[in-house]
Amino acid sequence: MNKVRIKSRSEIETMRRSGKAASIVLQTIGEAVSPGISTYELDQISREAIKKLGGISSFLGYQLPHHPPYPATICVSINEEIVHGIPRKDCILKEGDIIGIDTAVYLNGFHGDNAYTFPVGDIEPEAQSLLEVSKNALYKAIDAAKPGSRLGDACSALQTHVESHGFSVVRDFVGHGIGRNLHEEPQVPNYGEPGRGVRLRPGTVLAIEAMTNAGTHESETLEDGWTAVTADRRISALFEHTVAILPEGPEILTDNHDLWGSNSH
Ligand code: MF3
Ligand code: CO
Repeated sequence: MNKVRIKSRSEIETMRRSGKAASIVLQTIGEAVSPGISTYELDQISREAIKKLGGISSFLGYQLPHHPPYPATICVSINEEIVHGIPRKDCILKEGDIIGIDTAVYLNGFHGDNAYTFPVGDIEPEAQSLLEVSKNALYKAIDAAKPGSRLGDACSALQTHVESHGFSVVRDFVGHGIGRNLHEEPQVPNYGEPGRGVRLRPGTVLAIEAMTNAGTHESETLEDGWTAVTADRRISALFEHTVAILPEGPEILTDNHDLWGSNSH
């Protein structure tokens, strides 16, 4: 049974606005990333930006299975953290860190979900390379998410790009369908086989999340019940776009040239 909820043209039009809002929020937070700022302050910036756009945070109070309600509007993941780090007053960014920031906005009945990993000042060459590879892997997946192709085509494009650079893809977390709910079918893994998985029919909208580790793909969850870290404590990067599959091709609903540059189509 195919439970993917296909969106109409007018629903996609509404989702463009949710996606745009999420991308503006993410850009606004990114502009504040610098040594000395706390992740709590970044969450405050996110709250204000979401409010200013007339939206609601998709994350605040969200209940994932087997987790307590999420207490903030952003998920942060610093260095060895993979996803779902909770903002804290005593968590201060320092030069050389990388910080993944994930934020999502609910607006006009639809969600837009978007994440980017920012360098904090000067970072190590390995970190620089991980960010580049992870971001490009997301675009490889998007390029392969053509109408009529299958989910595995996009997932395997992501995986192949990452592994060809000697990094690993996260297996314990997935991207997802998105629309009136933050998480819809299908799950979007960071690995897959060409020709396998659901067919990407026009009107499918996916939150594709490229989650890339420098070392092992294995993860652990910290005692706070949320923060996922790499088992070997090597660094991890996250890039996410909300993407609509249209008859004319994939369209990035969270596109924002000021943040993503000319990489975005
Ligand atoms: N962007 C992540 C996801 O879509 C974060 C969700 S966890 C939440 O899975 F609880 F904060 F919503
Ligand atoms: Co998501």
